[in-house]
Amino acid sequence: MRLFIDTANVEEIRKANDLGVICGVTTNPSLIAKEGRDFVEVIKEITSIVDGPISGEVKATTEKAEDMIAEGREIAKIHPNMVVKIPMTLEGLKATKVLSQEGIKTNVTLIFTANQALLAARAGATYVSPFVGRLDDVSTTGTDLIRTISEIFNIYDIDSQIIAASVRNPIHITECALAGADIATVPYSVIEQCTKHPLTTAGIEKFQQDYRAVFGE
Ligand code: E4P
Repeated sequence: MRLFIDTANVEEIRKANDLGVICGVTTNPSLIAKEGRDFVEVIKEITSIVDGPISGEVKATTEKAEDMIAEGREIAKIHPNMVVKIPMTLEGLKATKVLSQEGIKTNVTLIFTANQALLAARAGATYVSPFVGRLDDVSTTGTDLIRTISEIFNIYDIDSQIIAASVRNPIHITECALAGADIATVPYSVIEQCTKHPLTTAGIEKFQQDYRAVFGE
C-alpha cells in the first residue's frame, strides 16, 4: 500500500515529502478553504513539491456534469500530475465518464458503499475514495468497506485503485493495508504518530545514557 498526504497545507506537504514516505497528495474543498488561499495557486505550489498524483476537487457548489467536466478540464491543465476529484453523484459519474474518455485522471470521492465504488470504477475512475473514518463515526466499520471493494475489484480485474480516505489514526493505516487498499491518504499528524512508540523513545534514551556514561557528549 502506498501513502498520500491528505492536506492542502504546503508546509505539511513539504515535511512529509522530506521523509520520503508519500508519493501523492489529496485535497478537498474543506482542506482548501482551511488554507484560505486561491485554489490554483495552492495546487500549483503542491505540484512543485510532490512528483506524484495530486487530487484537486471540482468546486463544492458545482452540481451539473457539464460544469464538472469544464472545471475538470481546467484542473487537468494545471499540471500533468493532476487528478480531478469528483463527488459520487449521478452527475459526477457522467463527468467521470467524459473526463476519463479524454484521458484525464479522476478520483471519485465520498464513497460509502461497495456499489458506489463499483459504479465509479465502471464509469472509468482512476481512483475511488472510500471514507473510513466517517463510517467509523456512524458506528460502521470503515475498513470492512475497503476489504469488500478490494475483493470485488480483484474478482472482476478492475483497474481502478482504492484510496482509503478519512484516515484518522495509525490502526486505520494497518487495517487498510491488510484490507487491500492500494493507497491510504493520511493527514500529517497521523504520519507523525506512526513514527512513535514508547519503547522507541525509551530505547533512544537508554542508548544515549549508556553512550554518554563512557564517551561523554
Ligand atoms: C479524502 O480524499 C478526503 O480528503 C479526506 O480523507 C476526508 O477526511 P475527513 O473525513 O477526516 O475529513
